[in-house]
Amino acid sequence: MPGFELVPFNDIPPLEKALQDPHVAAFMVEPIQGDAGVLVPENGYLTQIRELCTRHNVLWIADEVQTGLARTGRRLAVDHEEARPDIVVLGKSLSGGVYPVSAVLCDNEVMLTIKPGEYGSTYGGNPMACKVAIAALQVMEEEKLAENAERMGQLLRSELRKLPADIVMTVRGKGLLNAIVIKETKGLAQSAHFCSKCPWILPPFRLRRVEGKPALARQRSAGQAHPWRLHPPGATPHHQRVSAKRVHRHYPQNHLVLLKSIPLFGFG
Ligand SMILES: Cc1ncc(COP(=O)(O)O)c(C=O)c1O
Repeated sequence: MPGFELVPFNDIPPLEKALQDPHVAAFMVEPIQGDAGVLVPENGYLTQIRELCTRHNVLWIADEVQTGLARTGRRLAVDHEEARPDIVVLGKSLSGGVYPVSAVLCDNEVMLTIKPGEYGSTYGGNPMACKVAIAALQVMEEEKLAENAERMGQLLRSELRKLPADIVMTVRGKGLLNAIVIKETKGLAQSAHFCSKCPWILPPFRLRRVEGKPALARQRSAGQAHPWRLHPPGATPHHQRVSAKRVHRHYPQNHLVLLKSIPLFGFG
């Protein structure tokens, strides 16, 4: 992209060097790189970014389109280090899997540089999208989806680490944003099931561990290797169907009946 100079991820010295240039206005980074293969930076990386950007008067933009809103086990991935960017970009989960909506968060000092009447966004502030986003945020809070993602993520990775290490060479991620690195073999390369040697594992936020032996036994007999069960809304027990209902409350009269068949917070 013109005007962007790339620096290596999770590497502070090259960033520090780049920020010496007084013309650098902002540094944009994903707190965990998603598409690159779920690359989790070392602890302290985000804190150091904050310090450097403040020292050099450069805006820090955190792209949390993929990591934001419960996915990594916190509301935002930057919360793992309690680091506060100047600008946060959100998308995906903000939609509740229902309606396309994204958002930019920042303080007035930055936001109000765009004055009323100046060109901002054609569809910015779309009322229906905003209602969906608010409902999705309420569901995230009320159903403690970040906490669930944290718990289930730890369990998921600990189970994945029990797989043969000569095949599953790496398991990495935070919360329910995870990837494994699989050893490339001839058989695997030919398998139609793997399009990548680094598949992502991004279960829905409402993933639950199956409690009790009968359920576990049923899963095992169905050939599932791990004690997991996904709960898309259509398949959840009645008491867990509140998410769809809650979003319905905001849309009593329209076509969002479809919601029941769409996993909330599913990725597009
Ligand atoms: C990290 C990240 N940033 C930005 C985007 C772009 O978001 P959108 O597709 O909503 O424009 C994506 C899309 O996948 C993404 O993963």
